[in-house]
Amino acid sequence: MAVNNAMTADFLRSAYGGESMAHMRYLIWGEEAEKNGFPNIGRLFKAVANAEWVHAKNHFNVLKDGVGDNSVVAGAAFGNTDIVQNLQGAIDGELHEVKQMYPVYLETAKFQSEKDAERSFHFALEAEKIHAELFKSAQENAKAGNDIGNDKIYVCPVCGYTEIGDNVDKCPVCSTKKEMFKNF
Ligand code: FE2
Ligand code: FE2
Ligand code: FE2
Repeated sequence: MAVNNAMTADFLRSAYGGESMAHMRYLIWGEEAEKNGFPNIGRLFKAVANAEWVHAKNHFNVLKDGVGDNSVVAGAAFGNTDIVQNLQGAIDGELHEVKQMYPVYLETAKFQSEKDAERSFHFALEAEKIHAELFKSAQENAKAGNDIGNDKIYVCPVCGYTEIGDNVDKCPVCSTKKEMFKNF
């Protein structure tokens, strides 16, 4: 894999930075949720953290040949207060990626004929749409003082697609078989 255009490479590095921080933030918020009596929302955070790691890894590997140091600028939410607010931070972050960041990055990769970057951005965009919905529904529960259910949460190791419960045989985004999914 390689990248020929500077702007796509910049976007890959920035997306890598954003995904890396989201990964860490969700682990922190997941631990906080568990500590405060929401073990299943904690598990959701940890599953989605794994999906963000998949995205970071995909972006990083598209840049495989780009050896060297770079300063990376990426947006990140801060704060670790109550569970409803932490989930709001997660929802806002996912929606930023869905509505602005990834559509722009994806169009740029297409315009610059960067096939590998296009695939990596496409995978992330599709997964973030689902993450936003999962966090919204978790927040509805948390607002009422409730945890979410204890169904297994699955993550596709190729694209980061995430689902609660057994609803699909293969990944609807990248067709990876269900038995390859990681579960939480
Ligand atoms: Fe992501
Ligand atoms: Fe996400
Ligand atoms: Fe997938």
